[in-house]
Amino acid sequence: MRDWWRSAVFYQIYPRSFADGNGDGIGDLPGITARLDHLNDGSAASLQIDALWLSPFFPSPQVDFGYDISDFTAVDPVYGSLADFDRLLDAAHRRGVRVILDLVLNHSSTQHPWFLEAQSDRRSARRSWYVWADPAPDGGPPNNWLSSFPAVGSAWTLDKPSGQYFLTTFTPAQADLNWHNPELRKAMHEVMRFWLARGVDGFRLDVPHRLAKNAALRDNPPSLAAARRFMHHAVDRQRHIDLPEVHETLRGIRSVLDEFEDRVLLGEVTITDPSRLVRYFGDQDDELHMVFDVLFWNSEWSAAAFRAAISAIDPLLPPWSLPCRALSTHDHVRATSRLRLLEGDGRRARLAAMMQMTLRSVPCIYYGEEIGMTDVPVPPERAKDVDRRDANRTPMQWGSGTLGAFDPSTAWLPMPQDRDRISVLRQAADPCSLLAFYRQLLAYRRRSNPLQHGSFAWLSSPPELLAYSRAAEGTAIAVLLNFARHPSRVVLPPEAPSATVELSTDPGRAMGSAVASGALLAAEEGLILRLPCAAH
Ligand code: GLC
Ligand code: CA
Repeated sequence: MRDWWRSAVFYQIYPRSFADGNGDGIGDLPGITARLDHLNDGSAASLQIDALWLSPFFPSPQVDFGYDISDFTAVDPVYGSLADFDRLLDAAHRRGVRVILDLVLNHSSTQHPWFLEAQSDRRSARRSWYVWADPAPDGGPPNNWLSSFPAVGSAWTLDKPSGQYFLTTFTPAQADLNWHNPELRKAMHEVMRFWLARGVDGFRLDVPHRLAKNAALRDNPPSLAAARRFMHHAVDRQRHIDLPEVHETLRGIRSVLDEFEDRVLLGEVTITDPSRLVRYFGDQDDELHMVFDVLFWNSEWSAAAFRAAISAIDPLLPPWSLPCRALSTHDHVRATSRLRLLEGDGRRARLAAMMQMTLRSVPCIYYGEEIGMTDVPVPPERAKDVDRRDANRTPMQWGSGTLGAFDPSTAWLPMPQDRDRISVLRQAADPCSLLAFYRQLLAYRRRSNPLQHGSFAWLSSPPELLAYSRAAEGTAIAVLLNFARHPSRVVLPPEAPSATVELSTDPGRAMGSAVASGALLAAEEGLILRLPCAAH
């Protein structure tokens, strides 16, 4: 099906923490395969998600937990083998679930044979697959570029034997690749073909806006130099980020993808300026299909903030594109913790989910979000990550002793005390759980034409409500989300003074009942209403 991704719901798996098939405390590919029923067993007793994004499982020294890759076309033994990957892909496809992989283009591990060769000899043909420069006159780094990770400091690492520095814009164990080199490009295109020919459905591109660097390696202007990775306007303007040349590189990547049918590119472009962000869709559907909406995943918890984030992007979208809206990823504090979604009786978590699944965008659920997993405090002696992201990467809470469940005594990161309460096992048995609500919401989305591919329009509403309509093929719905901690009032378009409840975040609300404009909407309640025909 062409453009399958437009109506899909994605689910991000962080393989190290999803399901442990062999009990060694680290998640693995057979674990994922064994747990596919949770994601999609073909019935509404599962989430019925359409596509998986797998974070890296390739051979890696694990300095940046898989984002430092030493072989782009193999599986790290800790996660299994290529045969395990083929079995996972096949099992997912048989359920109608597509699989996209993380493609890390900007750097390789310093243990990758390409880098070892480049490092071994200044005259090596692979030397210029990476970015090398002589020291500054004082012997220090060649310029003032900084790593994205505040703990690292300079973006340059000294190679003592050759006396030159090489560029490492993340950790010193991740050497930036030089995309200006045609041989390197060809090699990375081959990496794509390797996985596409195996049947993967596309890629999530890691930091694609960073593939081109200022060729003269000029300093960043002092006013911009100290800005770091996320959500800082100054970052967008640094000399190793979002250069115009990057678009030509992305067109090359897209044309490789298009050698295969029905594949998709989703970009992690952490640029805050919407007009620059949407350029990654290309001038004519020749770059990325989707980018993550970074304004959405950083929004604070208010109707006004989400309305502003959504309105900043949506009007700029070319017709062939869509944003992908995630509430959490492996790089961010989980939304449950950041937005305090579990306060009270968890109604806020249901409201957040209803918003995510009803906007005109592609939702991506971060593993564990469907049961309300929170960030887990990690004591300093167990910390692993250079950028303090362990707390949001802790093992999936399946419920003690169940298939693929992590044993807290061997798990690579700590698990919380309440791991059995906030667990798939417990919530699957409880019709009022967050998991039950996710299943219901996703099942509803699946049969709703307006939500799958309908138009989107804001409804006028009081400031505490996010209110919009979606319509397709003679069916229209209104979505009303009350962000206030007090009741608000239902607002409906004037031509539709009354509507029918399709779904509410409030278990007390009767489905199929009628509500009229002005009726009470409970505190932090979300409602999907079917509008009468006159409103189409
Ligand atoms: C992306 C990844 C992050 C990683 C970085 C370097 O931002 O999401 O986890 O550390 O790129 O590859
Ligand atoms: Ca394991």
